[in-house]
Amino acid sequence: MPQASHERKRDKEEYSALKKEIAFHDHRYYVLDDPVISDAKYDGLMRRLLDIEKAHPDWVTPDSPSQRVGAAPLEALKPYAHRTPMLSLANTYNEKEVFQWRDQLLSRLKPGKLESDFTGEPKLDGVAVEVIFERGAFFRGATRGDGKTGEDVTENLRTIRSLPLELLDDGSGVPEYLEVRGEVIIEKSRFNELNRLRVRVGKEPFANPRNLAAGSLKQLDSRVAAQRPLDFYAYGIGDSGETVFESQQELLKRLSGMGLKTLDPFSRAGSIDDMVEHFRFLLSRRETFAFDVDGVVIKVNRFDACSRLGVRSKSPRYAIACKFPARHETTSIDKILIQVVRTGALTPVAILSPVQVGGVEISRATLHNSEEIERLDIREGDRVVVERAGDVIPHIVKVITDVRPKHAKRFKMPARCPVCMDDVVKVPDEVAVRCPNPSCPAVLKAGIRHFVGRNAADIEGIGEKLIDQLVDRGLVHKTSDLYGLSLEEIAGLDRMGDRSAKNVISSLDRSRTNLSLSRFIFALGIRHVGEHVAQILADHYPTLIELRQASAEEMEDIKEIGPKAAASLKAFFESPHAQELLGAFEKAGLSLKAAESAGAAEGKLQGKSFLFTGVLSNMTRAHAEARVKGFGGRVLSGISRKLDFLVAGEKPGSKLAKAKKIGIEVLSEHEFTEMIGENQSSP
Ligand code: IVH
Repeated sequence: MPQASHERKRDKEEYSALKKEIAFHDHRYYVLDDPVISDAKYDGLMRRLLDIEKAHPDWVTPDSPSQRVGAAPLEALKPYAHRTPMLSLANTYNEKEVFQWRDQLLSRLKPGKLESDFTGEPKLDGVAVEVIFERGAFFRGATRGDGKTGEDVTENLRTIRSLPLELLDDGSGVPEYLEVRGEVIIEKSRFNELNRLRVRVGKEPFANPRNLAAGSLKQLDSRVAAQRPLDFYAYGIGDSGETVFESQQELLKRLSGMGLKTLDPFSRAGSIDDMVEHFRFLLSRRETFAFDVDGVVIKVNRFDACSRLGVRSKSPRYAIACKFPARHETTSIDKILIQVVRTGALTPVAILSPVQVGGVEISRATLHNSEEIERLDIREGDRVVVERAGDVIPHIVKVITDVRPKHAKRFKMPARCPVCMDDVVKVPDEVAVRCPNPSCPAVLKAGIRHFVGRNAADIEGIGEKLIDQLVDRGLVHKTSDLYGLSLEEIAGLDRMGDRSAKNVISSLDRSRTNLSLSRFIFALGIRHVGEHVAQILADHYPTLIELRQASAEEMEDIKEIGPKAAASLKAFFESPHAQELLGAFEKAGLSLKAAESAGAAEGKLQGKSFLFTGVLSNMTRAHAEARVKGFGGRVLSGISRKLDFLVAGEKPGSKLAKAKKIGIEVLSEHEFTEMIGENQSSP
């Protein structure tokens, strides 16, 4: 049925109000980083907008926030010719050249004066684009390309939340036509997060934020770009029609007023000395920026002075880029070593001739796995380009094959573990090859390092060097042997004083009786069982015994336990190695602390003692006993006057009669679960 015209009118008004409202909140959130409504409220607005659009598809315009999710794929990106060329910048690498540049400016203007101060802005390491607004509406955007012609990436730019689809009027009016120039970047933390997710699902990590930003902008399918955490910062303009700006400082302020993200508060204006000072300041803070910054752009602030200075063919005279020391460097690979990690995976590592990269000395780089080596064809003796990107460990970007030594041999993964000489195995569906020997010294050492870790068994004083000695001298063959170490044995090791040995022993003693089940599960280092999964398991199974008996299907029924973790746990507990290990932990006197719960904190069974007899129907006896301990109570081993409660299941036997005889309170299983507040199974 067609909608009545007044309803239609009302919907249309609501629709345009919603578009404005959502744009306002996008600006608060993505540009100012200062939201004024909750995510839930925002989602509500968005849902309402989508509802209206569903009812009136013909109303949808390209400036609707719904269009940020991407559109149907294009056949190809169209070339786009810039009205005014997008120039590049002359570079300098030292402060002296900055002063020389200033002197050149002055001599060009002779006999006039410069009559301008300077600005200093961070040089963002991203992708330069031009974004065009017509009557304030985002209309088109293109990459820089060769400066004259770039590619039309309008659809991909539209997905960038911090790029307004409609310019705001800050009181000075919105220009009729405006080409905004700036950089598309990805913040380092968002980049690292994305890579962690990718690696977790077995995909290749992206190389660095800039390449990812560039790749995302060139997608033919803007729905892919919409999934990437792209951001846009404005730092300049091309053609601005009739609108005139006086200075770079004013421009940045106006762009920010129009709702664009600008580089404040990192930008400064002042004398050339101030700018050199600013450069030093930004360089010292380089690592702390949310995004990659590769230098400082110093610009003549006043635009009239800029026009007098003019441009060269490729770059303007009025600006210069002072680059930070490179993060790329070339060096050579002395050797490719194979490291055996905790999981037994053989991981190649490149040992490099030490080189300074961005102020840090680098002497090794991980090569991830053999596929990575094959992809880049990395060989011992090769000259390579190494990079330190964002916060990531150094890696090899490429091999300079022109200067490869004649006899450099292709790298081959060894067929045997370099540490214990066992034949390696290739696990189906995995890139890595593994050493299958759980007693391999390399695997054992890594396993001990993990076991004693702060979030695992938290044993102090057992560092790398000590672990090496413990394993190499045959004092520890499996992790549980740690608990059997004597003071003399530890004190007899290199670089171990009496005091530190005593500390290790008391730390071990503390852990022996104070380790919680969840920490122990995590400490075992079972594949796919991280801290979170360990905690969930411990919440579900009060004792290790029950966890060991659980089937994979049963574990998978637990929320958040996936098939991989379940299968890995089952395989671990069924392995002869684990059975021996767990037996040995028990022999060493390890007694796990019952799970901590809200009840334990309240200690609702504090001071009360319990004894169980007969067969319980809804829980095992171990579970029941663990609950008592968890709530601060004690479990006794026989009937005595000290006993507060006897919990009697089916076929209770003689204990029941004895308890009744001395007047001890008897609870049914149902009453017991009632008492601990866990009664879900009552009829
Ligand atoms: S101004 C005519 N300011 O550097 C000069 N550029 O080497 C126009 N860049 O393609 C550029 N941050 O991608 C300017 N604050 C900044 C910048 C910046 C990064 C990039 C831009 C340009 C390249 C020039």
